[in-house]
Amino acid sequence: SLPSKVKIVEVGPRDGLQNEKSVVPTEVKVQLIDRLSETGLKVIEATSFVSPKWVPQMGDHAEVMAAIKRKAGVKYPVLVPNMKGFEAAMKAGAEEVSIFGAASETFSKKNINCTIEESLERFRLVTEAAQTKGIPVRGYVSCVVGCPYEGPISPQAVAKVAVKMKELGCYEISLGDTIGVGTPGTIIKMLKEVTAHLPLSCLAIHCHDTYGQALSNILTALQMGISVVDASVSGLGGCPYAPGASGNVATEDVVYMMNGLGIDTGVNLEKLIEASSFISDSLGRKSSSKVTQALSCKL
Ligand code: HMG
Ligand code: MG
Repeated sequence: SLPSKVKIVEVGPRDGLQNEKSVVPTEVKVQLIDRLSETGLKVIEATSFVSPKWVPQMGDHAEVMAAIKRKAGVKYPVLVPNMKGFEAAMKAGAEEVSIFGAASETFSKKNINCTIEESLERFRLVTEAAQTKGIPVRGYVSCVVGCPYEGPISPQAVAKVAVKMKELGCYEISLGDTIGVGTPGTIIKMLKEVTAHLPLSCLAIHCHDTYGQALSNILTALQMGISVVDASVSGLGGCPYAPGASGNVATEDVVYMMNGLGIDTGVNLEKLIEASSFISDSLGRKSSSKVTQALSCKL
């Protein structure tokens, strides 16, 4: 059976833009976030407090946080890899943070320059500091079915990291198919293992669409009882440390599918398409969302 409501976590301004080669002006990022705030989305991942040497595109994190119009009822979480990132995020007025680890050792090294074990130790410091300030923490696990360096990843490796993140106090764990290699076949096996250890209510699915499998994988996850879906407006995105990874599933495509299923997301598709057109025009390219492509022809 399918959930009657789904929470969409919009990751476009962060996961979407972090991989853009040319620097996107801060003003464009701010406008994108403000437009997304008007669509009915309740969670918009705004930026990341990572090293600007590693991801120059997110170097304007504090400026972005200072300039956005925070809408009541909307959350603007930010990524933090360590205490330095957490402290900078607090200074910038972030009210929610996300830590991000991986189920693959090699990806962990390439992405955050430490082993999985070391990353969990860093995250513990972050979750402890967050707890004393009453800041909710979300956790990401990357490479939940495949890794760009190691190939297939075992469901057990995913469950192990997800459980540790829950123990650290994360209220939600987002399971990331970072390079979009999953199919319903591998996603089912992975989710069966993770849900043997963790309640469905604390899990989210985060699909990149590299192989065109994202919507099928999301539908599969919903059928298994997951009701939180990460998506990126216009299908923007990719991870700079995951070669070949393309964008996330487009938020418009997810909303269109949910509308067809009679699942409530609270998101206005027309306004979302306007935000999608705004960012693809700003980047000088056409939206990667099939739904936006189809509906803009009609406008
Ligand atoms: P490191 O070089 O090992 O860090 O990088 P360090 O602690 O040794 O410090 C080295 C320098 O970085 C120092 O500066 C620090 O101050 C600075 P220096 O003395 O050389 O001038 N530094 C920082 N600066 C700003 N903010 C910070 C910070 N920390 C240290 N937070 C580090 C380790 C984690 C910082 C680095 O590897 C990094 O920034 N990685 C981020 C990579 C990234 O953002 N990847 C994309 C997001 S993950 C993703 O997209 C996947 C996801 O979407 C889910 C999915 O799809 O699977 C979430
Ligand atoms: Mg991602």
